[in-house]
Amino acid sequence: MTSSPDTQPLPVQRITGKARLAGVLGWPVGHSRSPLLHNYWLRRYGVDGAYVPLPARPEAFEVAVRGLQAAGFRGANVTVPHKEAAFRLADVLDESARATGSVNTLIFQDDGMIRGLSTDGDGFVASLRAAGVDLPAVSHASTGRRVLLLGAGGAARSVAVSLAAAGMEVCITNRTRARADELAASLPGLSVCPWEEWEDRLGDYALLVNTTSLGMEGGPEPGFCPALERASAGLVVADIVYVPRVTPLMAEAQRRGLRTVGGLGMLLHQARLGFHAWFGVEPQVDAQTEAYVLASFSS
Ligand SMILES: NC(=O)c1ccc[n+]([C@@H]2O[C@H](COP(=O)([O-])OP(=O)(O)OC[C@H]3O[C@@H](n4cnc5c(N)ncnc54)[C@H](OP(=O)(O)O)[C@@H]3O)[C@@H](O)[C@H]2O)c1
Repeated sequence: MTSSPDTQPLPVQRITGKARLAGVLGWPVGHSRSPLLHNYWLRRYGVDGAYVPLPARPEAFEVAVRGLQAAGFRGANVTVPHKEAAFRLADVLDESARATGSVNTLIFQDDGMIRGLSTDGDGFVASLRAAGVDLPAVSHASTGRRVLLLGAGGAARSVAVSLAAAGMEVCITNRTRARADELAASLPGLSVCPWEEWEDRLGDYALLVNTTSLGMEGGPEPGFCPALERASAGLVVADIVYVPRVTPLMAEAQRRGLRTVGGLGMLLHQARLGFHAWFGVEPQVDAQTEAYVLASFSS
């Protein structure tokens, strides 16, 4: 059994003159859980380093990045509204950044180049695997490898790219059809299902993923609870919304005996690559990490 943060006190954070530095660029950035998570890992692994919030207005984004690089930072996470600007600014892009046209992790290399990664989608797939949902093995005879993705925003794009790379056949459905068509046209192998019909077609899919903000506390429709009676017997229901931890969609799926995976794991797993690149340690996403971050939701 993993110890809770209460039973295993964290060491005091060590920040010397040689500390490694990183942070999160956003506007606004006050809602971000990244400083909490990265500083938790820094303390847990005894790393001499710090991770700070970096509020940067859109017009100041590039100046802020160049300034951080000049001041010796190792890199930064990038959140709304800077992900596309970070994509344009990076000198070297990994495959997921190229496929999504956005960057959420910047790494300042020793040769002066800026490397850009998009880790959301791979973080999502890693969270599924950590929850015991193996891809593409989740498929069964009646559904094949088909996944239904609700949403066509930034998160949907990253998740679609990584699910396709993991061998799944991705179908997009979105309230605004044109956005779904645009997303499907920009990536190979994607199909589109009309928003009004997806509940009736659920029997065709092995995995349902909500990437919209429906069901999110404070979002457009916090009570979002679609009909799941047509679900295939082995359907896995994943929701990338992580506040609340169990969304109404997940609660309904659980009531029907379906397996569910929440969004917190994605949030934690997407952070691992950056932490490793900046601070030189491969961090664990475990019950202790989850409990620490979850505690911040109630405070
Ligand atoms: N777990 C994680 O680590 C993680 C990471 C990233 C994002 N997220 C969460 O994922 C959600 C989406 O983020 P995003 O960056 O992709 O946002 P986004 O680009 O703004 O996309 C929002 C999506 O939600 C849909 N939507 C919004 N209101 C709706 C409504 N009333 N009815 C039907 N559809 C509606 C939009 O449909 P239209 O195109 O029709 O407007 C669009 O597909 C947010 O809740 C965010 O917190 C979680």
